[in-house]
Amino acid sequence: MRKILIGLLVLLLLIAAIPLGLMATGTIDSTSLRMVLNVMTGMAGPTTDADTVEQQYRVPEGFTLQLYAKDLPRARFLRFTPSGDLLVSRPHAGDIMLLRRDANGDGQPDAVETLLSDLKRPLGLDIADGWLYVAESNRISRVRFDSERRTVDGELQPLVEGLTDNGNHWSKTIRIGPDGMLYLAQGSTCNVCVEEDARRNTLMRFNADGSDGEIIANGLRNSVGFDWAPWDSAIYATDNGRDLLGDDFPPCELNRVEQGRFYGWPYFNGDNVPDPDMGRDPLADQRRPTAPVHGFRPHNAPLGISFIDGSDMPGDYKKAALVALHGSWNRSEPDGYKVVSVHWTDTGIEERDFLTGFNSDGEISGRPVDVAQGPDGAIYVSDDYAGAIYRIGYKDDGAGSASLPTVAPKTRLDSAPPEWLAGADLDAMATRGAELYQQYNCRSCHEQGENPVDLSGLSQRLGYNAVIDSLQAPQSPMPVFPLTETEQRELAAYLLATPSPSGTL
Ligand code: HEC
Repeated sequence: MRKILIGLLVLLLLIAAIPLGLMATGTIDSTSLRMVLNVMTGMAGPTTDADTVEQQYRVPEGFTLQLYAKDLPRARFLRFTPSGDLLVSRPHAGDIMLLRRDANGDGQPDAVETLLSDLKRPLGLDIADGWLYVAESNRISRVRFDSERRTVDGELQPLVEGLTDNGNHWSKTIRIGPDGMLYLAQGSTCNVCVEEDARRNTLMRFNADGSDGEIIANGLRNSVGFDWAPWDSAIYATDNGRDLLGDDFPPCELNRVEQGRFYGWPYFNGDNVPDPDMGRDPLADQRRPTAPVHGFRPHNAPLGISFIDGSDMPGDYKKAALVALHGSWNRSEPDGYKVVSVHWTDTGIEERDFLTGFNSDGEISGRPVDVAQGPDGAIYVSDDYAGAIYRIGYKDDGAGSASLPTVAPKTRLDSAPPEWLAGADLDAMATRGAELYQQYNCRSCHEQGENPVDLSGLSQRLGYNAVIDSLQAPQSPMPVFPLTETEQRELAAYLLATPSPSGTL
């Protein structure tokens, strides 16, 4: 026992000695010291306040910025629930927090509660088909989640177990793709090395129940964030370049991840520049590295990425994603610490500042981690250093409760198309559906009256199964209509047809 204690003490001293030594030699100053400790131990920095945020931080013309939540030490990844609450993962606290949506419009969540706790370093999270998916450092599991009642039901059900979490980059990022499949990104164990576990430094894909996992791309050193471009469903992943090759090399990466490709690490950096420590890729005859589509500045550490719907935003955010740059921890001059917008233009990909001001002359006050667009259209950014969530809004974005529908839109897309759809004459069905819509006067509640429940753009939110389910078991005050199964399908075909046959929906 005593030996173990002494061992621990020595270890702690060692951990403290590295940054202290660096400080003594003048290599880093006290701010960077906090940052190094932040990286090594997950220790948080000082908390922030509304004044700092308003006076020191900047957003582009036409946007507004406010401190949405604080006192959330080490807040990492974000996900909105179908009811408009914000889930926040906190790997070091081992929990997932739920921030109730701001229904009273005071600019803060209506309540902050713990949804899940006692988890092993949870980072990635997603919601689909009434499940909450959670990625701990060594496994992926899911639990039934009722977003309206804000409760989970039952135990976490493991889907993928036995993931390795040794070394650096132990965190796991997961997302359910537009295809209903489960995607997993895992970083490398080291700065630069050959991995024993071939699943590290890859992007993998599984069925939503965790079965049939396969590696779809490798050579990704640490792709903490990935998302799908809404215009072509391509996957774009951020990737952190390696350390110890100086302040200005290699760039951090944005990769367009395609099936079967190799993205270079550990043999190539940036635009396929051979790595000085690794020599020739032993598989060079079988594979060529794919270069990034965009380079972020070296050591900027891009983490979360989120494609946004910028149609109502001031400025041009039509084909754009937001990326959180966590910022350097070992660059002699700190760099990064901001959120940038990445734009797909006719002439290529452009990077512009979106949320800045966390680095004032080397004094670091925050480190952005993830970005999510809320159902109100506003952008939410997590900061694990200040333990805060920021909200970037714009005029008429529906701040607070005012324009949020009383019934929050629920997204329930089909994980697989229903069997009857194959070979169905959807046009003919939609025509009969339109007649039924008339006959039962669905319009009276869905298009007329004071507060119609909007069914436009339904196919963006609901699949066939969900629409039919709404007809079979409607929520009050919608009545149960005496519809046959065929009629339910016909109404669904009508409601999900785009553009809608009558042009009224
Ligand atoms: C008396 C008013 C009323 C009538 C009539 C009515 N609905 Fe509804 N409907 C509602 C309300 C209210 C909701 C939202 C219920 C909820 O989710 O809380 C709803 C929800 C729905 C939804 C689910 C929408 C979503 O986003 O989840 C569908 C689909 C739908 N209605 C279709 C129909 C069709 C088709 C008809 C006619 C056959 C119809 N409704 C008639 C009141 C009505």
